[in-house]
Amino acid sequence: MTLPADFVSALDDVRPRLGLLATSVTYFETVGSTNDAAAALSEGAVVVADAQTQGRGRRGRSWFSPAGSGLYVSVVLTPSRSVDPRRATSLTTIAAGVALADGVEAAAGLSVRLKWPNDLYVGRRKLAGILAEAGGASARIVVLGYGINVGEGAYPADLRDRVTSLESELGSRPPRARVLAETLAALAGRYDDLLAGRFDAILSGWRRRAAAHGARVEWTGADGPRSGDVVDIDDDGALLVRVAGATERIVSGELNWT
Ligand code: BTN
Repeated sequence: MTLPADFVSALDDVRPRLGLLATSVTYFETVGSTNDAAAALSEGAVVVADAQTQGRGRRGRSWFSPAGSGLYVSVVLTPSRSVDPRRATSLTTIAAGVALADGVEAAAGLSVRLKWPNDLYVGRRKLAGILAEAGGASARIVVLGYGINVGEGAYPADLRDRVTSLESELGSRPPRARVLAETLAALAGRYDDLLAGRFDAILSGWRRRAAAHGARVEWTGADGPRSGDVVDIDDDGALLVRVAGATERIVSGELNWT
């Protein structure tokens, strides 16, 4: 399918800021998952869909992806070509959260916070999520997929206590094309930081937007449910939590605020 004209024009507006990204942009009216469609592509490729039938979230969840109101995007990155592979995925995850928050703010003028590792929140409601997956024939490829609730129809009404959209927050719906263009431009900037080893800029961007520092959180550890107080993230993007006087490092998992 051809990319709609408003998307073409919004991408043209930010072309000088797209860096290594959007070397190709593939558009689907409907696709299973944009992450699957992107897995065979090379660095910089972008896949966008109006709707997904098999949209995936983190931790095996599905991502509600109806036509016309969400933004469903996947971008192919190869961070380990210059970042130590042991840190590449976690730092890419952190960088993507910062970029998405910056891009949403630029496109919609709405300030958002990050919940570790990279969920975008407004207050206690989730606005957008990111799924980073190893993909393609080469283990170096990371497919970074993100979903943003632009219109109110992007999430089921029964989730409205926990989920929000740009339209719900702003009272009107910003153009999806502009949200796409600004998030890709921000992602290109953070990807450039990542490849150039400017990790401090990424980590400090994340800390500025951290939603839960000092907050009490719960998560599921190897031995069952745990809770503690968020302290910080470390240089690899792992979460540091204070539990009974000691600091624990969480590298993967899902946090809940208590
Ligand atoms: C999360 O659980 O918060 C991550 C959600 C990621 C959803 C996006 S939508 C575009 C891309 N394709 C998918 O199947 N998932 C991601």
